Amino acid sequence: VNAPPDIVPPVIDRGPLAGLPPTLEWVGGRDGVLRLLDQTLLPGRIETRDCANVEQVWEAIRVLRVRGAPAIGVAAAYGLCLGTRPHRHLPRAAFLAQVREVGQYLRSCRPTAVNLAWAIARLTARAEAGPAADVAATWDALLAEAHDMAAEDAATCRRIGENGAALIPEGGGVLTHCNAGALATVAYGTALSLLYVARARGRHFTAHVDETRPLLQGARLTALELSRAGIDVTVLCDGAAASLMQAGRIQLVVVGADRIAANGDTANKIGTYALALAARHHGIPFYVAAPLSTFDRALACGADIPIEQRPEDEVRAALGTAITPPGARCYNPAFDVTPAALITGIVTEKGIVRPVTQAQVQRLFDPNTANVPRHGS
Ligand code: MRU
Repeated sequence: VNAPPDIVPPVIDRGPLAGLPPTLEWVGGRDGVLRLLDQTLLPGRIETRDCANVEQVWEAIRVLRVRGAPAIGVAAAYGLCLGTRPHRHLPRAAFLAQVREVGQYLRSCRPTAVNLAWAIARLTARAEAGPAADVAATWDALLAEAHDMAAEDAATCRRIGENGAALIPEGGGVLTHCNAGALATVAYGTALSLLYVARARGRHFTAHVDETRPLLQGARLTALELSRAGIDVTVLCDGAAASLMQAGRIQLVVVGADRIAANGDTANKIGTYALALAARHHGIPFYVAAPLSTFDRALACGADIPIEQRPEDEVRAALGTAITPPGARCYNPAFDVTPAALITGIVTEKGIVRPVTQAQVQRLFDPNTANVPRHGS
């Protein structure tokens, strides 16, 4: 009997970041590995790391070697493939039990970004859909589905950028927080995709980037991405953002999201809520950019979103040096929730949700809603 042909990873248009190793990619066929750009080492060292089993994927997500909601989702999908690969020869019921167990394990590594649970649910449904008689073919279908998710993520992010690029003001200042760029997705990013598409359309602007304590995703990752893409970038301490708005130098704030509740309340990196408050005070539009996979309509409002608490030591030290006296306690939530009322609009691959209300969010998921972006601010 001839073996079925191997399963080939998708070829992905990586836009302005083609010069860096991919955020994540599957290398090889059925016996392949998940290769990650190790983001804990950036910007100083550009090194990749291969994950050949699910424990390595779990660890990589937990310590933020791979991070950002969409990237976590796709990494987890590949993690599920790796974790179930040794069980391809089990009977169907035992294999499906493994799919659920590995999925549960992966879901435990970071709680806030819903893309992780979304990806696991999508692959679990694929496994349950069969084909009933052939577990090896079912596993093949999981790997093919993970490849589809990777390709879709890049295309979705590009579409988000196209739908929101007109919001970027010519000659103005744009403020962003954390990293919602190519490094947080398979390619292009969410918030930063708007900047990339606007730049490609010839628009000029300055990107102001909060450094994003304690793990400095803004300073280390966003500044790296934007400067590589030829965008004018200035990094600021998180505490400087409001004064920059007061000085009239910010015309737009755009951030990503880790989970958006049914009413539009949005969890994103800690510090986002403060930016939204300051933007409202200064009359500056505050946009979120996110794919539909970041919405969790099972949660009525932001108070229901689980917020990850990270180790106190991340706050205690900066770049390996202690910055607090011995015994000081530290508070280290990874995310906060911005109420929908402070959000001007949410840019998605299906267009811009504006105003941000439960009814408008619901419309996004209505199969009859036309896939037509609405431009303009
Ligand atoms: O803790 P991180 O680095 O995973 O947090 C990332 C963010 O908060 C991003 O803004 C969010 O995931 C959107 S990424 C397109």
